[in-house]
Amino acid sequence: KKRGFIFDMDGVIVDTAHFHFLAWKKTAEELGFQLTEARNEKLKGVSRVDSLNKILKWAEASISSEEFDRLLQEKNEDYLAYVNTMTEKDILPGVYNFISELRQQNYPVALGSASKNAPTILKKVGLLDMFDTIVDGNSVSKAKPDPEVFLIAAQNLKIAPENCIVFEDSEAGVEAANTAGMLSVGLGKEEILGHADHVFSSFEEIDINFIEQLETI
Ligand code: G6P
Ligand code: MG
Repeated sequence: KKRGFIFDMDGVIVDTAHFHFLAWKKTAEELGFQLTEARNEKLKGVSRVDSLNKILKWAEASISSEEFDRLLQEKNEDYLAYVNTMTEKDILPGVYNFISELRQQNYPVALGSASKNAPTILKKVGLLDMFDTIVDGNSVSKAKPDPEVFLIAAQNLKIAPENCIVFEDSEAGVEAANTAGMLSVGLGKEEILGHADHVFSSFEEIDINFIEQLETI
């Protein structure tokens, strides 16, 4: 059985989740709303437009479509200012070795991210060449928890969904992987990612034998 591996980007490969949080926090403040870390969990993995819609709902605010677009643009500019400071050091611990090992073993590897900034960020940290296919916010129409992004990634890898393993840090992303019929591996806290098939706190905790064990399931 040949397995395919699909990686979310923000919060899995690179430490950008905090940058998203800081930028959305500022947007929320403009709407008179305090965005907490707990509420922010609901924004992880969610597209830019859907994120702003959630914040508006929490803030019980309604704005014009011009203001909506302005806030989106401002949020992305603030976010990209943080991204601009990124280097290889912002790759999360253990990720580079883990993906390198998969590639050495000839496993197909995909990126499955909601971000429209994915190519910019991967280039910035030097990981653009690590993936056989990149499926991101520029190539999907339905946002996580819809499984579209992962199903397209599997199709591009030519691996059946049930033979794909997805690495995710978000509630919405784990749900998307489960709905796609894939094996979900959560990176983060068990309390938040309890619906994943496996949860690890980081790639450093994943034994490389884990991959071999998967082949026998
Ligand atoms: C990821 C992040 C979200 C972000 C989304 C869109 O899923 O977890 O926080 O909103 O991508 O990212 P973008 O870079 O296009 O704004
Ligand atoms: Mg993520």
